[in-house]
Amino acid sequence: MLCALIMAGGKGTRFWPLSTEEKPKQFLNLIGEDTMIQMTVNRIKPIIPIERIFVCTGEMYVDLVKEQLPELPERNIIVEPEGRNTAPCIALSAFVIKRYYDNANMVVLPSDHLIKDEDEFRKVIESANEFIDSDNDSIITLGMEPSRPETGYGYIKYSNHEVKINNHKVIKVEAFVEKPNRVNAEKYLEEGNYLWNGGMFLWSVVNVLEQIKEHSIDTYKALEKIEVVPEIHMQDFINENYKNTEAISIDYAVLEKSKNIHVVPSSFGWDDVGSWEALDRYRDKDEAGNVLVGNAKAVNSESNLVISSNNNIVVEGLNDIYVIEHEGKILVGQKSNVANVKELKNII
Ligand code: GDD
Ligand code: MG
Repeated sequence: MLCALIMAGGKGTRFWPLSTEEKPKQFLNLIGEDTMIQMTVNRIKPIIPIERIFVCTGEMYVDLVKEQLPELPERNIIVEPEGRNTAPCIALSAFVIKRYYDNANMVVLPSDHLIKDEDEFRKVIESANEFIDSDNDSIITLGMEPSRPETGYGYIKYSNHEVKINNHKVIKVEAFVEKPNRVNAEKYLEEGNYLWNGGMFLWSVVNVLEQIKEHSIDTYKALEKIEVVPEIHMQDFINENYKNTEAISIDYAVLEKSKNIHVVPSSFGWDDVGSWEALDRYRDKDEAGNVLVGNAKAVNSESNLVISSNNNIVVEGLNDIYVIEHEGKILVGQKSNVANVKELKNII
């Protein structure tokens, strides 16, 4: 039996001024009508019923989750009193899911990615699930063909031991390196036997907890009594004990250390929507290559990205710039510099 855990507590502000700590990327409709978290649920729902989809998020985002995912049962919202990164989030969720589904596998999904070929994505998940059913102690990662020496991703070094499940290869992993420096990222790209980590993991709930016990004992100890706490006291227990977990990502805590990892090379059009460039790629354009969202117009202008939430914006005689307006805040810049926005928001 397969459950999904959607991690939705990240506070990314790279899309400032659209994304803020109060409303981060996963709750925005950056790509289309639906928000990123709605897209994530809709993508997995055809193979995992909503009763088995869990969302882990911070207290401050619970109302947004309820508003955007009204069909999600309330007990499936796992609430952290504070964000302590993905290892505690996954550990807590595994303990909670185990209360309801004793012997489940769990696919961990980020809430803010884009996947173009959703059918293929679901097929990969089904193959990965079949593999874990036959090898309970392993962790499946999904690997993406790298195209640049990106230092914001994990890198998966794969071996030549592979099996086939349906149409997919499942390859034994030799090493996992989270967010290498530039020099190493370039080396991995050149060596060729590395894939990017897509940030999605499939494993048995029992194995998640074993891995946490082995590699992040403080987190395990802080949360293990969840198994015996009566349901009505569960939130109090979490609120009381979550601060004692080790604030670290799952990639550093477990993936870099675990010996039994496999990777399924995946080609379903994955994008982690890391910067405005992604919007530029996926939003519809006018004949002059402008992306215009809201009350935005471009005259004698080419290849601009103009997003207006409240006010009218006219861009005249300019090329390759972006203008983002949201609730009284305006960001104007050159598209080639777009990756630096994370630092910019601290200026105001
Ligand atoms: N509930 C909860 N609590 N969710 C969290 C927390 C937290 O404290 N921190 C992050 N998340 C959620 C984010 O909202 C996102 O959906 C997901 O967990 C991943 O967190 P990120 O902070 O976006 O991770 P990353 O992008 O730096 O790195 C991960 O993803 C890369 C691919 O996009 C790693 O797994 C990398 O190895 C991977 O390459
Ligand atoms: Mg991310």
